[in-house]
Amino acid sequence: MFKPITAVSLLLLSVSTALFAAEPPKTAVISVDATHPGASISPSMFGIFFEDINFGADGGLYPELVKNRSFEFSEALTGWHEVLSYELPKGIDPPKGELDIRTDSPLNATNPHYLRAHATAPGYAFYNVGYRGMGVTSGAGYRFSAYIRSKGPKSLRATLTDPSGKVIGTGKLEGFMGSGWTRYETVITPTATVPDARLTLYVDDIGDLDMDMVSLFPVDTWKNRPNGLRKDLVQLLYDMHPGFVRFPGGCIVEGRQLITRYRWKTTVGDISERKTIINRWNDEFDYRPAPDYFQSFGLGFYEYFQLAEDLGAKPLPILNCGMACQFNSSETAALGQLDEYVQDALDLIDFANGPVTSPWGKLRAQMGHPAPFHLEMLGVGNEQWGPRYVERYKIFAAALKSKHPEIKLVVAAGPAPSGEPFESMWKTWREQHADLVDEHYYMSPDWFLTNTQRYDHYDRNGPKVFAGEYAAQSAGQANQDNHNNWQTAIAEAAFMTGLERNGDVVRMASYAPLLANKNAWQWKPDAIWFDNLHAYGTPDYYVQKVFANNTGTRVVPITPLASDGLFTSAVLDERTHELIVKAINNTASERPAEIRLQGIAPSGNATVTTLASPDLKLENTFEQPTALAPESSTLDVKSSTVEVHLRPYSLTVYRIAVR
Ligand code: AHR
Repeated sequence: MFKPITAVSLLLLSVSTALFAAEPPKTAVISVDATHPGASISPSMFGIFFEDINFGADGGLYPELVKNRSFEFSEALTGWHEVLSYELPKGIDPPKGELDIRTDSPLNATNPHYLRAHATAPGYAFYNVGYRGMGVTSGAGYRFSAYIRSKGPKSLRATLTDPSGKVIGTGKLEGFMGSGWTRYETVITPTATVPDARLTLYVDDIGDLDMDMVSLFPVDTWKNRPNGLRKDLVQLLYDMHPGFVRFPGGCIVEGRQLITRYRWKTTVGDISERKTIINRWNDEFDYRPAPDYFQSFGLGFYEYFQLAEDLGAKPLPILNCGMACQFNSSETAALGQLDEYVQDALDLIDFANGPVTSPWGKLRAQMGHPAPFHLEMLGVGNEQWGPRYVERYKIFAAALKSKHPEIKLVVAAGPAPSGEPFESMWKTWREQHADLVDEHYYMSPDWFLTNTQRYDHYDRNGPKVFAGEYAAQSAGQANQDNHNNWQTAIAEAAFMTGLERNGDVVRMASYAPLLANKNAWQWKPDAIWFDNLHAYGTPDYYVQKVFANNTGTRVVPITPLASDGLFTSAVLDERTHELIVKAINNTASERPAEIRLQGIAPSGNATVTTLASPDLKLENTFEQPTALAPESSTLDVKSSTVEVHLRPYSLTVYRIAVR
């Protein structure tokens, strides 16, 4: 029965808490029994989930600085503006001209719009604002390029300016000739570092100048690739050593309607021929409208496979199964219309793995990668559920399994981790002998803490689990007030000990979403935050990193699993001959502990990685990007009883060398 809390009971409570706190904390005994190591586990189980949400691709990982470079946004001049008289110093008239969006004789059929600048006086000028400004670094090179078709003008001048209008870089495209489209480029080197520069273009002669694919792109990309990825962001991903990369999402796979679903074939080949479409997060949330959110697909499936390879991670593409998002239009392709979708899946396998003599393998080779990308798994649908889904899955599975039995298929279990439709989807997947079931949990920190033993009793012989999207939500699912703080991160860490201990059932796990642009986000929380010049990992990122950097090949029995705020897991890394023990102390007190090793002989030392803060509200920020970050130390391990002190609110990983 509910009893109101009175002042007296509060007093008694605080007295007893004070007495209790005065007692020396008891030594926790952590027993690790390696006499009979458990099941084999996947050393690539902790991976990443990438989705173009929160301006994660254009304006993020894909570092094009010009917004709407191809004039294909629904409002074709989005991002572009004429220089108006009030923007010029007093007394100077704006140069005369007009901006005209045209579709006659375009650059190509998938990029039908282009810009015609009609200059009626020399020096006609217009500018692009970038993705919430353009971040440029002093002394770094930026490749300014465009496809040009000139009917008179001989050159196109460009300036980079800071917000005060000061010119910090110049460049010029010139020597225009012929009547067709030709690509021109030059490199601009700014003299200042500015997060919000703008690119202004000047037509120096009277006449019409047609332009498309107007681009300003850093030369210094990850691995210095043209059309490459943003270096600091890839570095953060690289440092995680993720086991796999899920791509391209997320709901973006489905589209709000089928017409805007993710179609991988429109994201490969020459970038000028990739079809720009609206991003489904553009108008998803009334409270965070993003009318300028489109997908250029400059980061498409080729760049994705290349990224996974660079990170040493397995690719895990998720494909549309003939269903738009069930939260939005819930549109479904009729079974008779499904061939195209199934063919897309078969062709993607060819694009990734096929010989260079196959049509799609040939394109991969032409794009620069004759060797296969070693695709081993494919997701059929994202977060779907219900009989319509099962019907479509069966058609996909029949086609894929007969032609590519080597490819494991990932299926969805709906949007939530329990109840309906989760239960009925699992029943179906057991009957269908599905390979991997994708579970999603966007739940409270408490849910994570109370579900650390969720998988202890899962059927060892049933379908395997892919914990495909999860993140502790401090205020509520996708709530604007959510935080990425130590409280959410330590709860995820505790939960991940349960994933690891059950690594024979849970084959893969990924936090979601991965990236968020500080000035253009839709969804919180996220693992990594960035602006136009900087990026930092949240405490949740560091938990992912610590787990992914400390995977093993075999589970080792450990106790206690989850008791009094202490959560543990142990794995053996047979590659390096180390026993890896993870311990989470989710209490405010330091916990003395003894790690008692059985059935295994330590060979002298251990490395220790600790993430700890007594302040559960601690967050990393642009000003203090590593307020919470892993600390490293070493420990002498002279006997099979290792005495340690678990810091208040801490995740500690002991890598103990063993004989
Ligand atoms: O991670 C954000 C979204 O959450 C994903 O796009 C979707 O799959 C889930 O609902």
